[in-house]
Amino acid sequence: MTTSNLTIRDAAQADLHGIMEIYNDAVANTTAIWNETLVDLDNRRTWFDARKAKGYPVLVAELDGAVAGYASYGDWRAFDGYRFTVEHSVYVHRDFRGHGIGRRLMEELIARAASNGVHVMIAAIEAENAASIALHTTLGFRVAGKFSEVGTKFGRWLDLTCMELKLSTV
Ligand SMILES: CC(C)(COP(=O)(O)OP(=O)(O)OC[C@H]1O[C@@H](n2cnc3c(N)ncnc32)[C@H](O)[C@@H]1OP(=O)(O)O)[C@@H](O)C(=O)NCCC(=O)NCCS
Repeated sequence: MTTSNLTIRDAAQADLHGIMEIYNDAVANTTAIWNETLVDLDNRRTWFDARKAKGYPVLVAELDGAVAGYASYGDWRAFDGYRFTVEHSVYVHRDFRGHGIGRRLMEELIARAASNGVHVMIAAIEAENAASIALHTTLGFRVAGKFSEVGTKFGRWLDLTCMELKLSTV
């Protein structure tokens, strides 16, 4: 597989179906999202509109005209004092993982965060998600801590590893 045709760009309404399919695959088959309910297009439209209304980026990786992945960030905690900290998510379509798409999405998301004045980015990752922890480590994130058995899915407890990246020194 070649990713020479890969473009990272802002998502549009027309990308929401592709985003929904990637999201629902993660719901049904992974512990990346701790939800068990599939979403519809209206749900993704509401999510997208809310992100855009707050000026937060929603990026897609487009490969040969299809959505191969997406990344976005939103509030980490909805209190004024946390306004310079965001929590992000990054998802690559199962057929395209391991080809550098997650890295490309994250590099652009980090650049957007830096230019938008974000101070700290946080990734909350299921502790056994080796791919995500590796991706974030290579991007300079460090493990801030690990919560034990704070979630559940597929009939077992899940641990949560939190990683952080500081973008500015002030
Ligand atoms: C996590 C995820 C976004 C990574 O995206 P990707 O496109 O597959 O990753 P990349 O090919 O860009 O790899 C990025 C780095 O992580 C490493 N990596 C990727 N998959 C890995 C794996 N399964 N095990 C160990 N390291 C891995 C790569 O070696 C690479 O390091 P490098 O850039 O120094 O060479 C993708 O696997 C995914 O969508 N998983 C399901 C959803 C998910 O877990 N999202 C994150 C929720 S916190």
